[in-house]
Amino acid sequence: MIASLPSLLDPALVARFLPAEAAVRFATWDLVGDPMGADAGEIDVIVTPFHTSSLTPNPGYVGLADIAAALTRAPRTRLVQLPSIGYEGVPELLPPGCVLANAAGVMEGQTAELALTLLLASVRGIPDFVDAAPKWANSRMPGLLGRHVVVLGYGGVGREILRRLAPFDARVTPVARTARVDASGDRPVDVLGLDALQDAVSDATALICALPLTDETRGLIGVDLLSRLPDGATVVNVGRGPVVDTSALIAELRSGRLRAALDVTDPEPLPPEHELWRLPQTLITPHVGGNTPAMLGLLHRLVADQLALIQSGGKPRNLVDAHPTEASA
Ligand SMILES: NC(=O)c1ccc[n+]([C@@H]2O[C@H](COP(=O)([O-])OP(=O)(O)OC[C@H]3O[C@@H](n4cnc5c(N)ncnc54)[C@H](OP(=O)(O)O)[C@@H]3O)[C@@H](O)[C@H]2O)c1
Repeated sequence: MIASLPSLLDPALVARFLPAEAAVRFATWDLVGDPMGADAGEIDVIVTPFHTSSLTPNPGYVGLADIAAALTRAPRTRLVQLPSIGYEGVPELLPPGCVLANAAGVMEGQTAELALTLLLASVRGIPDFVDAAPKWANSRMPGLLGRHVVVLGYGGVGREILRRLAPFDARVTPVARTARVDASGDRPVDVLGLDALQDAVSDATALICALPLTDETRGLIGVDLLSRLPDGATVVNVGRGPVVDTSALIAELRSGRLRAALDVTDPEPLPPEHELWRLPQTLITPHVGGNTPAMLGLLHRLVADQLALIQSGGKPRNLVDAHPTEASA
């Protein structure tokens, strides 16, 4: 079996996690130009570089067109493995018989850590104090103690955010597509359905978005929802940029009514001249939620596990593709 790895992964490290009997050859391929170490036509598994569905050139990322072109050049491909959890735009590119897996399990904890970093910085006024320096701009900021935080998304990332929020003594309300009680942990968690979101945010100090980008979530945090947030509330986004309506958010930030702390934006990357960079009470990080050394270690392990599963005739983990055919190579 031949697997192409993006240059972000080290074949020797993947090989170290493979069982001794696994017969895997590696090529290095960032999907632009030719693969090194194999012909494209021989490749069975493609591990892609990070991808973007944005039309703005995004250095270091490949576009959907690059993935489509690679699949045409590598028609034996049975599995496309993404290094990200988000997979928007990719399932539509897959030929029949080729399945798609995401990187669930690799970056939820780190992304939740950044969500907390952004949240705490915003509700304690760090961007304001940094902007005001060296003025001693002493002022009272909301904090989290006794406050209400709504977490939109109760998947891998949302649940890790909830876990990390626990010691801050805030009231925390998770919201997902469907209402339910999650009884899997130490104590049951009431998850509200999307229909309860507008009411839930009405007394929230912060709304944290940990949603994927889908047709349903695009623009979900728009004029209506933002207008329901109380004055001074913070919008944190670690999901995908287009889930927030950027124009609607900018209007609220311009007026100084809301605050924002964003790891993901629309467009992405945010051009230097974009107004979001210059708005007060706004923190922006360049889509680095999952990007820590822990992510790389877990990703090498995941890729090795996937290759071993396929070689033993099993089904890869984290399948997100609509095609029912199993990968085998
Ligand atoms: N900033 C970063 O670096 C970074 C890193 C990792 C992930 N992400 C982003 O975070 C997203 C979420 O990751 P995850 O691992 O938590 O995904 P996940 O496990 O698939 O969970 C997704 C959550 O979103 C909810 N949801 C989906 N569509 C919805 C809708 N229309 N209305 C309300 N809720 C909806 C789901 O609700 P149900 O539970 O009811 O199905 C689920 O709770 C990823 O897709 C990715 O785009 C960003």
